Amino acid sequence: MQIFLDTANVDNISQAAELGIISGVTTNPTLLSKESTADYETVTKKICSIVSGPVSVEVLTEDAKSMIKEARLKASWAPNVNIKIPITADGLRATSALSQEGIKVNMTLCFSANQALLGAMAGATYVSIFVGRLDDAGQDGMQVVQDVMDILDNYPELDTQVIAASIRNPLHVTQAALIGAHIATVPYNVLMQMIQHPFTDVGIKRFLADWKSVSKK
Ligand code: G3P
Repeated sequence: MQIFLDTANVDNISQAAELGIISGVTTNPTLLSKESTADYETVTKKICSIVSGPVSVEVLTEDAKSMIKEARLKASWAPNVNIKIPITADGLRATSALSQEGIKVNMTLCFSANQALLGAMAGATYVSIFVGRLDDAGQDGMQVVQDVMDILDNYPELDTQVIAASIRNPLHVTQAALIGAHIATVPYNVLMQMIQHPFTDVGIKRFLADWKSVSKK
């Protein structure tokens, strides 16, 4: 399994990259709008200078022709830019064309197994299942991840990786890993939560206190 960071915050990406466990980054227009420099090109180039793995950058157009044009431009910003395209009929058209010319697509906003299946058939390198938003709507988001993994197991010719996205808590990451999802893209705060456990903190304090008591003797 790989962990991607789901943010456009350059400081958080730098801090997470130092941990040596981040294989890529996913952004979207909402994440970018939260940053002070909401210039997609500048921020993307900065992120790509920090992370050598795939960096997903979303299109802001809706018809296939415009998506393809925009994707080509954004893919030229850095060698590791991947293009996030929403699952629509136009998105599939654009994904088919772009994948044939070697531009890697992350088919995003997938909420059903069929949407992800179509993305895979169109040649998407990644399909992103929005687990948290499905859970918010009273559905079982992780079941969709499981279903997509089962479908892809049936058809090895579909060379697509499943991203568990819209991750809200550390349990989502554990569940995605147990299912065997290829990737979980996690917000920075969830990554920090994954590192922590209160018993670890207590254990460190106790070890140090015991060592100090002995070293005084
Ligand atoms: O990057 C796509 C996805 O992870 C967004 O998550 O929290 O806005 O549902 P969220």
